Amino acid sequence: MAVIDMELARSQVQSRGFLDVEVDPTLDLFAEIERLKKEKNAIILAHYYQEPDIQDVADYIGDSLGLAQKARDTDADIILFAGVHFMAETAKILNPGKKVVLPDLKAGCSLSDSAPPEVFAKWRQNYPDHVVVTYINCSAGMKALSDIICTSSNAKAIIDSLPADQPIIFAPDKNLGAYLNKVTGRNMVLWNGACMVHEIFSLEKITKLKTRHPEARFIAHPECEEAVLRIADYIGSTTQLLKYTKSDSAESYIVATEPGILHQMQIESPEKTFIPAPPNNACACNECPHMKLNTLEKLYLCLQYETPELTMDEELRLAALKPIDRMLEISKAAGLLG
Ligand code: 13P
Ligand code: SF4
Repeated sequence: MAVIDMELARSQVQSRGFLDVEVDPTLDLFAEIERLKKEKNAIILAHYYQEPDIQDVADYIGDSLGLAQKARDTDADIILFAGVHFMAETAKILNPGKKVVLPDLKAGCSLSDSAPPEVFAKWRQNYPDHVVVTYINCSAGMKALSDIICTSSNAKAIIDSLPADQPIIFAPDKNLGAYLNKVTGRNMVLWNGACMVHEIFSLEKITKLKTRHPEARFIAHPECEEAVLRIADYIGSTTQLLKYTKSDSAESYIVATEPGILHQMQIESPEKTFIPAPPNNACACNECPHMKLNTLEKLYLCLQYETPELTMDEELRLAALKPIDRMLEISKAAGLLG
């Protein structure tokens, strides 16, 4: 293993968010990562939005709910989280005894950023009788201010578990919140946040694409805007979309979520065709710039030097754990845990 100046490494991680060390281009990174995983008893958890190479070295690939469960249950010594910051935070909250590292500390999330805890805490005071249900795409500070966390896989079950006359605040995603109001018949108060990826799908371009591919089914993530969801044949979390494309009889799909998921869709259904839904800008597909900050090189360095590491204040962790535990209990009762 190359020797690096750890003082320099620490300052790099602090300023850039990752270890900026040159990786020998002749190295077989796949083999090296396998070796390091065994040597260090490490597990790699990756979200479906990670680049294909990262998905290929992961021990588990999943949606936010599956990843949280895996992070809680693993007996590995190191959890390398290939995803964004709030996901690695959730892993640390659920399994504080493990070392949680992520390839790039600056891999954030626009949805999480749209709800600063101090602003939310003030706003919440306008609704003293409301229960706060918060989407897992938020900071630990937001989680600590919430009553129950949910993911897109279990949000409906979480909301349905509350008494029909219970007023609810839903944060931070207004699109997911509006969709949930529709499918649960509630009138939740919505925080005004959105995901920068899902809110820019172009209804016009998708409609044209559907005309060109009349045989294709259009499937979408519930973080998309209402107008896009209205024309969808199926709406679901990333895992639900993946399962749908596997079990459904169609041969092609237009997919309105981050295109990283297409890698697993293609692996699970090699005979089918998957077309990424276009955004309302000049790009053909719609990648999450935060998720894509992680690269195989950064992952390798992260595993080798065990940095950047995610650490958390214990008081904050315990406050954020409560609403996550509630989510997991309700999900278990609803039969939603794998
Ligand atoms: P899920 O994978 O839980 O559907 O969430 C999608 C997402 O936006 C993650 O950032
Ligand atoms: Fe956040 Fe959207 Fe990126 Fe997911 S896809 S990490 S919600 S910005």
